[in-house]
Amino acid sequence: MKITQAAAVGFVAILLGQSWAVAQDFRGNTKIGQAVYEQHCLRCHGLALDGRGPDAPYLIVAPTNLQTLKSRSKSDWELLVAVTHGVLFSPMHGWRGRLTDEQITDVLAYIRLMAPFDAVS
Ligand code: HEC
Repeated sequence: MKITQAAAVGFVAILLGQSWAVAQDFRGNTKIGQAVYEQHCLRCHGLALDGRGPDAPYLIVAPTNLQTLKSRSKSDWELLVAVTHGVLFSPMHGWRGRLTDEQITDVLAYIRLMAPFDAVS
């Protein structure tokens, strides 16, 4: 019984570790992603994804600088949740319904191309 429990805990730990480690590449089309980004995201997040888009100065909550380690160390899943559901109490609304699932995958692939995943070591 004890051994089974330990094995279960170990298994869960491996699963969690793995999903974190392998879920780091969106298989989207970065070209389409770039077009989506330029049309819908650039005005806030900026050309260099640094949060300095033309609309940024007028927002109550500054758009995230996607180039910071804080953002780059987030898993694909965390970024996906932010884009589909939005960020609470901020001008970043959810894009589900406004963009197709494919467009969201593509734009995330573009973000990861421009601001690659970087684990906090
Ligand atoms: C109206 C301005 C605005 C637009 C347009 C916008 N965002 Fe955002 N975005 C924000 C703000 C503000 C935040 C949250 C900042 C905070 O809470 O610190 C945010 C957060 C995010 C995050 C979370 C980053 C993190 O590290 O947690 C991602 C990812 C993101 N935006 C991607 C996008 C994408 C992709 C688009 C286009 C489809 C987009 N945003 C369009 C303003 C915007």
